[in-house]
Amino acid sequence: MTFTTQALNKPRWLSLYAPVANEMLATEEVLRSELQSEDPYVDQLVKHAFRLGGKRLRPALLLLAAKAAGKVTREHIVLAAVVEMIHTATLVHDDVLDEATIRRHGETINARNDNEASVLVGDFLFTHAFSLAASLETTFACQTIGRSTNIVCAGELRQIHSRGNYSLSEGEYLSIIDGKTAELCACCCRLGAHYADSSATIEDAFDRYGRHLGLAFQIADDLLDLVGEESQAGKSLGSDLKKQKPTLPLIQLLATCSEVEQHEILALCHREGSEARHALAARMERSGAVEYAHHRAQEHAAQALAELRAVPDSGAKGVLAELTRLVVTRRE
Ligand code: IPE
Ligand code: IPE
Ligand code: MG
Ligand code: MG
Repeated sequence: MTFTTQALNKPRWLSLYAPVANEMLATEEVLRSELQSEDPYVDQLVKHAFRLGGKRLRPALLLLAAKAAGKVTREHIVLAAVVEMIHTATLVHDDVLDEATIRRHGETINARNDNEASVLVGDFLFTHAFSLAASLETTFACQTIGRSTNIVCAGELRQIHSRGNYSLSEGEYLSIIDGKTAELCACCCRLGAHYADSSATIEDAFDRYGRHLGLAFQIADDLLDLVGEESQAGKSLGSDLKKQKPTLPLIQLLATCSEVEQHEILALCHREGSEARHALAARMERSGAVEYAHHRAQEHAAQALAELRAVPDSGAKGVLAELTRLVVTRRE
C-alpha cells in the first residue's frame, strides 16, 4: 500500500498533511502490519474496516502536533496507528447504533455481515490498539488513551440516552459531543506534544486546540447529516433525525420558534421517512437554525486557532491552522 493509492478517495485531506507525509505513510505501514489475522474470515473483516477512504484526521493531528511541538519519533508513529484503530472501532460500533449502511464509501460491516461481526470487529480493534499502546516504554499513552476512550464511550451512551429528548439544551448537546468526538481529538494533540517533550503549558494548549477543533468538526458533521450529500460524504446521512438524536440545528429551531410551530416540528420529528426529514431540514434552513449552527462551529474553530498562538511558527502549525478552516467547510 502506498501513500498515493491510499490517497485515492481523500486526496484533498491527505495532500494537506504534507509536512508529515512520510510519517503518515509509516503509520499506514504499522496499521497494515498490525491488523492481520491468520484466520481468513477475521482477516478480511478487519481489512474491510480499514479500507481506503478515511480522512485519517486523528493520526494527522497527532503527528502534526508532534512536528509543530518538536520532532516526530517512533513512538508517535505507533500512537498515530493506535488512535486510528480506536477511532475506527468507534465508527464500526456507531454504525450498528445508527443502523448505517455506508461508511468510507463502502458497505458498513453491519450491512455487509451483521451486528454480531461489527461488535466483535470493534472489540478486536479496541483491544489491539491497547496492546500496541502498551508496547511503549512509558504508561502515559495507555493511561491517556484509556481515559479518553472511556469518555468517548460514555458520550455515545449519553447520546443514546438522550434519544427522543427534544428538550435537550445546547449545553447538554455540547457536553455530549465534547465526550464522543472532541475528547479523542484533544487526546491526539496532547499525545503528539507530550511525546515531543513539550512543556506542560504547550501540551495543554494543544489539548484545547484539539478539543475546540473536535467540537467544530462534530457540529459540522451534524449539519452534514441534515444537508450533506451521501455520495460526497461516503457515509449514510440523515440518521440523526431517523434515530431521534437532537443536534444543534434542531435544538436551535425548537428554542426559537412559536409554540404552534413547536407542535408541528415535534410531529415531524416523530414521523418516519425522508419527506418529514426534508420538511424539517427546510424549516431549519429557513429559520436560520442551520446558519446558527454553522456559526457556532466557526466560533469553536476560531478558538482552536487562537490556541496555536503559543506554538512557534512552522509548516506543521500552518496545516493545523488550515484544518480549523477545513473542518467547518468540509463536505466529507
Ligand atoms: C466520523 O469521523 C465520526 C465523527 C466524529 C463525526 P471522520 O469523519 O473523521 O471519519 P473518517 O475517519 O474520515 O472515516
Ligand atoms: C459518532 O457521531 C461519533 C463517534 C464517536 C463514533 P456520528 O454518528 O455523527 O458519526 P457519523 O456521522 O456516523 O460518522
Ligand atoms: Mg453515526
Ligand atoms: Mg454524523
